[in-house]
Amino acid sequence: MRILVTGGAGFIGSHLVDAFLGDGHEVVVLDSLWSHGGGRRENIPENVSFVHMDIRDDGIHRIFAEFKPEIVAHYAAQHSVAIGSRDPKLDAGVNVVGMLNVLEAAVKAETRKVIFASSSATYGDTPAMPVDEASPQAPVSPYGITKMVTEHYLRFFKADHGLDYTVLRFGNVYGPRQDPNGEAGVIAIFLGRFLAGEGVRIDWDGDQTRDYVYVGDVARANLAALTGGSGETYVIGTGVPTSVNQIYRALVDVTGFAAPVTHAPRRPGDAREVYFNPAKALRELGWRAETPLLEGMRKTHEYFRNRDRAIV
Ligand SMILES: NC(=O)c1ccc[n+]([C@@H]2O[C@H](COP(=O)([O-])OP(=O)(O)OC[C@H]3O[C@@H](n4cnc5c(N)ncnc54)[C@H](O)[C@@H]3O)[C@@H](O)[C@H]2O)c1
Repeated sequence: MRILVTGGAGFIGSHLVDAFLGDGHEVVVLDSLWSHGGGRRENIPENVSFVHMDIRDDGIHRIFAEFKPEIVAHYAAQHSVAIGSRDPKLDAGVNVVGMLNVLEAAVKAETRKVIFASSSATYGDTPAMPVDEASPQAPVSPYGITKMVTEHYLRFFKADHGLDYTVLRFGNVYGPRQDPNGEAGVIAIFLGRFLAGEGVRIDWDGDQTRDYVYVGDVARANLAALTGGSGETYVIGTGVPTSVNQIYRALVDVTGFAAPVTHAPRRPGDAREVYFNPAKALRELGWRAETPLLEGMRKTHEYFRNRDRAIV
């Protein structure tokens, strides 16, 4: 298939590119390499066509017309809850107006389907656990709002223009290439500090949990969505709650370094427990998370260690 990946130079997008290429597809990456995002040119293989362009740019219509993608994996986004909260207009400009530019270009180019990276941020303050596709969405951040709005636009574009879609709502994705400065990436942040021989800060009592899903598993969910999940939404997570303390201990295991810990109070709005029930993805896409936390951590550690060596 011909697949255009917006945000394909970023953390998750670049793993999609690898998975699509590995499956024999033809891939074009469109990415602005936004200075506050995790996109890097070196995340994309040299032989993949790379278009350095903003999704808000009208020029994307020309790119779509030339490449005629059958599938668009829409991963470009203003991905920071903090930036979106400080600047909701910027957030909506990229995540809504930019997204509409992508959907309109896709309709014109007769794209069959859009795969969209949505988020647990669309749920807002902790609904009943575990979270599934039927859990009520009441986002409390502009980022969560624009992600939810996109899901509604996708329904509209399917109904009005026949543009098919699959929405994948991710838990906390982690793995190689994650930007250690990213706010969602406690594993990447901690790893960076472990490798630098520095201490880490654990907020609250460290027993608060999230659903951490390995990026390679997320890439496989996208492969499944190329053909499955027409007009459907899936939560994509492990189904297992993992605490910050468990992550800390796993990193001590993986690195052999017991980083000193300082404690800080609970951050306002921080949820106690978040985990998904991914049963629908298993039933309909044949997908389940397969990478145990320790194995995912080892792969992530290896990547960051080698990258640090290359930089030194
Ligand atoms: N990381 C997670 O845990 C997580 C969870 C849920 C959803 N998501 C979503 O997955 C997608 C990828 O996230 P990520 O963690 O890989 O972040 P990332 O920052 O590494 O990737 C996003 C990419 O989008 C590009 N981009 C940003 N603004 C753009 C614009 N205006 N035009 C073109 N390109 C632009 C960036 O340069 C970057 O390469 C995002 O849509 C994000 O909201 C991520």
